[in-house]
Amino acid sequence: MTFNFDEEVSRRGTHSIKWEFLLEDKQYIYGDHADPKYGADRILPMWIADMDFPSPPAVIEALESRARHGIFGYSRPADSYFEAVINWVARRYGRTIERDWIVMTPGVVPTVNMLVQTFVAPGEKVLVQRPVYYPFFDAIKNNGGAVVSNSLRYENGRYCMDFDDLARKAADPAVKMAILCSPHNPIGRVWTAEELTRFGQICLENDVLVVSDEVHCDLIYEGQIFTTFANISDEFAQKSIVCTAPSKTFNLAGLKTSNIIIPDKGIRDKLTATIQRAGLLGANAFGIVATEAAYNHGEAWLAAALAYIQANYRFMVDYLAEHLPQLKLIPPEGTYLVWVDCRELGLDAAARKELFMGQAKLFLDEGELFGPEGAGFERFNIACPHSILAEALGRIRTAVTMRER
Ligand SMILES: Cc1ncc(COP(=O)(O)O)c(C=O)c1O
Repeated sequence: MTFNFDEEVSRRGTHSIKWEFLLEDKQYIYGDHADPKYGADRILPMWIADMDFPSPPAVIEALESRARHGIFGYSRPADSYFEAVINWVARRYGRTIERDWIVMTPGVVPTVNMLVQTFVAPGEKVLVQRPVYYPFFDAIKNNGGAVVSNSLRYENGRYCMDFDDLARKAADPAVKMAILCSPHNPIGRVWTAEELTRFGQICLENDVLVVSDEVHCDLIYEGQIFTTFANISDEFAQKSIVCTAPSKTFNLAGLKTSNIIIPDKGIRDKLTATIQRAGLLGANAFGIVATEAAYNHGEAWLAAALAYIQANYRFMVDYLAEHLPQLKLIPPEGTYLVWVDCRELGLDAAARKELFMGQAKLFLDEGELFGPEGAGFERFNIACPHSILAEALGRIRTAVTMRER
């Protein structure tokens, strides 16, 4: 079966956070006014992490069939749902999990918030590795915790973990949890088994609970191997919480469905109690159906989508090398996010915004959002039709050339 990722599908009228927005003074205005300026002035949104591709046909058919039934009452997943998740985890990551270990939640970000509520007392600390996915910061702070960064080292165009710093910081008895972003958003590293082992060992020695956010784990580039944290050892599995979801993999973020894998019953029961206190019982009727269809029938689509994203990436590499050598791209090993070092432009955050949004009319995620370590960088989402990426790069080229004149 072939899939058409080239088509620019309009997302107008779909309540898309990515495409339907208002900009005031180059600020994104949140609120309930979706669409007054759809893709305002065709500002190309390459920020939030969803794809501009329709989900796999099998998912769309399953949702159509469910919608035609017409009754959307309270729902919960059946055996077949759990089998689909268990088989996916076994087939793709070689991990054997049990049904009881799976806690279904309405998203990884809500889960990280609930995990902080559950395992971190007010004033206690949570480790993150900046530059990193910024909703982690709010999840920690809004629930009374303090952020501690074991910042990644950036050397010779590559990011790596700083284990000496990690060992020092994890030794602080106030550090109760570490959020591992694996693969790492925004820098695109797929951590090796050796790196994960060292990370996990330090956390284990210091009794720090590891939350491994593996939401991007199906988006792995050719030649890379993804290792799920819990597969390193049984000890790691017992002292960790692995967050997975079909949302990035199959472009289902709006269905708010994720699966949190927790082998340890004590840890699981505590999270479940928090979920109950929030009254979050049952699941999204469409999320159940879509997840099952995606995991059972979506593999060929995923392979094709990944090949397309990697072709987009190679195009971007060649384009920047030829036309915009000031922009240095950090080669991603996974995800559809590309982290670009723009420091050679010599612009501060405000001037970069003027260049990318004001002149080139692109909506990117500016590096500063991911922590001070991201200053001077921009994150591009390249899960879009090739035509959009080509247009975006062409606009940057024009804007940079005009500026340099
Ligand atoms: C690392 C990471 N975790 C979580 C999420 C969002 O997860 P969810 O939509 O399930 O809340 C994202 C989305 O970009 C992400 O990059």
